[in-house]
Amino acid sequence: MTRPDTDIAGRVIAWQRSHGRHALPWQRTRDPYRVWLSEIMLQQTQVSTVLGYYERFLQRFADVRALAAAPLDDVLAAWSGLGYYSRARNLHRCAIAVVERHGGEFPRSSALLAELPGIGRSTAAAIAAFCFGERAAILDGNVKRVLTRALAFGEDLAQSASERALWARAEALLPEEGIESYTQGLMDLGAGVCLARRPQCLLCPLQDVCLARQQGQPERYPVKTRKLKRGRRQNALLWLAAGDRLWLSQRPAVGVWAGLWSLPEYASAEELQSLTSAWPGEAKVLDAVQHVLTHFDWHLQPVRHALPPELPAQVLQQVEAALPAGRWVARDQALQLGLPAPIRKLIS
Ligand code: ADE
Ligand code: SF4
Repeated sequence: MTRPDTDIAGRVIAWQRSHGRHALPWQRTRDPYRVWLSEIMLQQTQVSTVLGYYERFLQRFADVRALAAAPLDDVLAAWSGLGYYSRARNLHRCAIAVVERHGGEFPRSSALLAELPGIGRSTAAAIAAFCFGERAAILDGNVKRVLTRALAFGEDLAQSASERALWARAEALLPEEGIESYTQGLMDLGAGVCLARRPQCLLCPLQDVCLARQQGQPERYPVKTRKLKRGRRQNALLWLAAGDRLWLSQRPAVGVWAGLWSLPEYASAEELQSLTSAWPGEAKVLDAVQHVLTHFDWHLQPVRHALPPELPAQVLQQVEAALPAGRWVARDQALQLGLPAPIRKLIS
């Protein structure tokens, strides 16, 4: 098959063979146990750090059955110093799954590998490419950087549709032959050439075809908007009922639901209940209401307290004195007021 002269894969493969890394310990094997272990260790840790741990770990746990049979504490101890310990827990769970589900042999396809604990789509593809020669696309953080630049892929990767589109582009680039060198080459370019802040375009095999370089500012890729880190807030709401009336308070002029009539708000259900426990009648904790606002998720815990009928005026006054400023409103009337939507829904 003839390839267009932008042949990205061919360039990556030729470069990997002459300039890439070849002597890393996990490159001298097609044993999926060893390749898997290296890929997990390399997920958040540099090659130079992994090198020391890798051989020691293999001496301690020679194969997947040995790892599965070991107590988790021993695995964590061997991992100690590599950080991100959820990787070690998943490693152990994965070894057990390989023994239980697959008789101690790693499955030989990226699709089945990706079903194992701790093995994401990109890691599954790397293992399948290195061990079984499967034509599967990798797309970890480094490779996203290389490919979005080479292709000038400017869609926002915070959007899952863009992420899917990039996976499709990555798959379309896969070579017919040489998947091992191609996969390793993309990793090597991402780690050593197409650097986040200072891409070394003059050393790059893609320099003549890279669209981001032609545009002049490769560092603009990849595009990923920061997702707002959403806050959380929890409050309790008092739905105090006396016959068909309920107590409403007007909310402050600033803040959420500014100026609207609403149920009195308390810091917590405990605070609310310590107040209402002195009152006659019955309290009931209702289903919580989740309200999504721009900057936070609001978890509202309503407590409905029904005062008994025929309450002596003096007792009613004591209750009212403990309430925030407000008034009794019949429920029908309350629904005519400007209530916040979740409150309207709650009381109707
Ligand atoms: N980072 C992730 N996988 C790697 C590999 N196989 N070689 C070098 N660096 C890597
Ligand atoms: Fe990255 Fe530059 Fe190579 Fe483009 S030419 S892939 S920006 S190093």
